[in-house]
Order: sequence, then C-alpha cells, then structure tokens
Amino acid sequence: MKNIRLAFLGLGTVGGGTYEIFQMNKDLIEERTGCTFTVTKILEMNTERVKSLGLDPELAVTDPALIYDADDVDIVIEALGGIDFPAEVMEKSLERGKHVVTPNKAAVAANFDRLKAAAERGNAEFRFEASVGGGIPALTSIQEALAANDFTEVMGIVNGTTNYILTKMGEEGMSYEDALSDAQARGFAEADPTSDVEGIDAANKLSILMYLCFGIYIHPNDIPREGITKITMDDIAQAAEENCKIKLIAGAERNGDEITYSVAPRFVPIDHPLAGVSNEFNAIYITGNAVGELMFYGKGAGALPTGSAVAGDIIAIARNM
Ligand code: HSE
Repeated sequence: MKNIRLAFLGLGTVGGGTYEIFQMNKDLIEERTGCTFTVTKILEMNTERVKSLGLDPELAVTDPALIYDADDVDIVIEALGGIDFPAEVMEKSLERGKHVVTPNKAAVAANFDRLKAAAERGNAEFRFEASVGGGIPALTSIQEALAANDFTEVMGIVNGTTNYILTKMGEEGMSYEDALSDAQARGFAEADPTSDVEGIDAANKLSILMYLCFGIYIHPNDIPREGITKITMDDIAQAAEENCKIKLIAGAERNGDEITYSVAPRFVPIDHPLAGVSNEFNAIYITGNAVGELMFYGKGAGALPTGSAVAGDIIAIARNM
C-alpha cells in the first residue's frame, strides 16, 4: 500500500481531532483509500499533548523549515491558528510541492490569491473544506456537485459559538456571559472569542463562500459587520413577538452585477429553514439557478466534526496522488 506522509502544524482541537480520526477509523480509511497514513513531522510546542495523542515526541520540530523543506512529507496539515505565520508556512509548503490542508479560515480568507498562486507554482493541492461550517461538506459541493449553477444567494449561520449563545439566551433565558462561558468550555470558541462574538470569524467564512460562489474576492475587513454583543433579552423577546428568531447571518446576494454582503444579527422568520438551526450547529443556505434552494446542515465546530472535514481533504489528496 502507498504510504502518505503527514506533517501536523498544531495538534490543538482540530489538529488533534484529525489525528484521532485516523486512529479511530484506521482500517476503514486504509480500505477505502488503499493507502496507509504516517505522521512524520509535528510542529507543536506542547509535548504533553503530543504524548497524550500517542505520538512520538521525537517527531516534533520547532523550525517550520524542517517541515516545508522535508523530503519525507507529502501533506502538511496547518491547524495552528493565526494569520501571517501559518500563511507563510502554507505558501512555502505549497510552492515546494507539498499539498496543504487547513481549517484556518482567517489565514485562507486573508491570503486566498497568494495561497492559490503558491499551489499553482508548486503543482500542489490546497484544500480548506473545514474552514467554513466545520464538518459540513459545503465547499467541496459548491466547487464540484454544484459547479453547473449560477448562484444568486448564499446565507449562512457559520459561527457555532454565537449560534450557541443566541440559542441559550432565546430558549433557556441564559445570560450572554454564561452562554459564552459554556460555549468556550465546550471548545467551540476561538482562542480569543472576540473574533466569534464580533462576527470576525463569520466574515472570514463569508469571504471564502463568496469567492467560491461568485468568483469575487472581498477581504474580510471589507465586509460590513456587526456582532452579537449588543443583543439583549428585549431584542430576543421582540423577535419572538414577530414570530422570528435572532440569528447571526453571514449573507451575500447577487442582483445582476451587484453583490450585497454583510455579517449581522437578523430576525429570521421561524418558518425559514435557518431558524431551526440551534446550538453549535451551522447551516449554509444556497440558491443556484439550476438546483434551486439548498441547505447544508451540521456541526460547525468541535474536534471530531471539524477533523472529519480535514481528514476528508487529506483522503481526497491521497486518492489523487
Ligand atoms: N469559533 C468557531 C465557531 C470555530 O464557533 O464556529 C469553528 O470555525
């Protein structure tokens, strides 16, 4: 069997979750791909984390050049978080012919063209399914199964933390602070939850969705954005009176040549499919001129759901190799 050599940059929630999936479903993945998967390099400062996953701490390096210049790495899994450093390591890996998989929406959204160009230079694959909607396979579907469509609208609940907070406030009367702490304890939130609650994370994801659906690149900083920090229990009661739920919507709509886009809390009528998306679940609601209206639904955060999408990208690359 062909052996695929993996390098993990970061073994936190998603990196670790991805590795666990390869352990948990080892036989099944080998049978489906006809490949074995071996970790040959790790960039992770937390040696205890490396050991607790059953990996050899000897594989750990501190210099990323030992990964992007390595002869024994086929696929780099970038799950570090941050923007500039991971983008640089991904770019160097891609232009040296290493395939890259990442769930890092902030780094992808801010560096889309640069990373795509590096992939072309290195004749390597660059995949980022997990960057939007965690475990939901929306990006691959948009680029493959739905590729024949002219899209007119994409609307998503793409941040699990804020959806969890709004659900707990709306359905259990929980305070904003308690709901946020609960979401953080469950591992949904970013290291700095400002990015979640101010809609920055959702703007990163909308930038990626717009690129794939409409072929336009809008930097996340140029997306009009409002978070959920100002939502009060009165707002939630007002929404209920109007038969609506408040949801943080990342949406873009195309009318002719004009595309309007924003991230903002919106009143969503309770009979709209997005109103039924609760807790940490995400959904991406797309309208295409051939397929009509379509909604993807699933877990948008967490180690195994997000790891599922990362692992799927790794397997797709392995099959192409
Ligand atoms: N903090 C993000 C969320 C993680 O809550 O959805 C997944 O991108």
